Amino acid sequence: MQTAPVKTRFTTEDDITAEVKRRFEQTPDPRLREIMLSLTGHLHQFVKDVRLVEGEWWKAIEFLTATGQMCSDKRQEFILLSDTMGISMLVDLISNGKPAGATESTVFGPFYREGGPELPAGGNMAEGAAGGTPTIIHGRVLDMDGKPIANAMLDVWQADPAGLYDSQRPELEELHMRGIYRSDAEGNYLIRTMRPVHYQIPTDGPVGSMLAATKRHPWRPAHVHFKVTAPGYQPLTTHLFDDVDEYLDSDAVFGVKDSLICKFPVHESRDADAAKFGIEPPFCTAEYNFILASLQK
Ligand code: BEZ
Ligand code: FE
Repeated sequence: MQTAPVKTRFTTEDDITAEVKRRFEQTPDPRLREIMLSLTGHLHQFVKDVRLVEGEWWKAIEFLTATGQMCSDKRQEFILLSDTMGISMLVDLISNGKPAGATESTVFGPFYREGGPELPAGGNMAEGAAGGTPTIIHGRVLDMDGKPIANAMLDVWQADPAGLYDSQRPELEELHMRGIYRSDAEGNYLIRTMRPVHYQIPTDGPVGSMLAATKRHPWRPAHVHFKVTAPGYQPLTTHLFDDVDEYLDSDAVFGVKDSLICKFPVHESRDADAAKFGIEPPFCTAEYNFILASLQK
């Protein structure tokens, strides 16, 4: 009598998923095990859902290869891919949930650079920028009880009035449109810059091709980036957005939160703010208080 053969090969769509998962079962680190098992399950299910064929799989491999090849010390195409797929924002929402009342975070983006110049209160981080409207951003850094946080560090960066970051200008060797400010004993900070403009995220790489193929636009609404830190408080990475921008509802990287939208009133005359901030019209002002949550929950 013939006995049934012992099954040792994984030749069906379901068998292979089960076998790949089985091989990850003994991963010693429990978190890595959880991630690899879930990743395998979702990736395999995705391939089955869309009935992915070989030519499409090759295209995906070529796309990811090109994404890696686009990366350099000045360009991070994988972050851009994560941003445009909404993954960066999803991770931010999971990781950086702040208690109610604290300033909300948003995406870090690929254009942060270490080593911005330390500037005094009111120092101009846009020195030498061509065009644009001079702008004062001011306010306080406070704790959740409304008490001032002295000597908080505000690391600030933004695109120039033409919508480019310094690292996107090959002719620029030094840092530009960046500054590190400190809050004073009352928590006040004072930044001089140019009014931010909306700009396109880089479209000359694979992410740009993906946006074009899917009829998505590459614009980010006008914003200024902040990393605000103080000992004993949760670090905050965020933006302030200009409330009149046309792309607030369709940010290419899904980074807008209502609480981060700020007015940038234009001052056309030598008014009280011109005297207070020592600035000639026309200029803009924007006022925003950063509220930091303490480290202990
Ligand atoms: C940025 O705001 O600098 C940025 C964020 C995500 C993708 C591209 C740029
Ligand atoms: Fe930006």
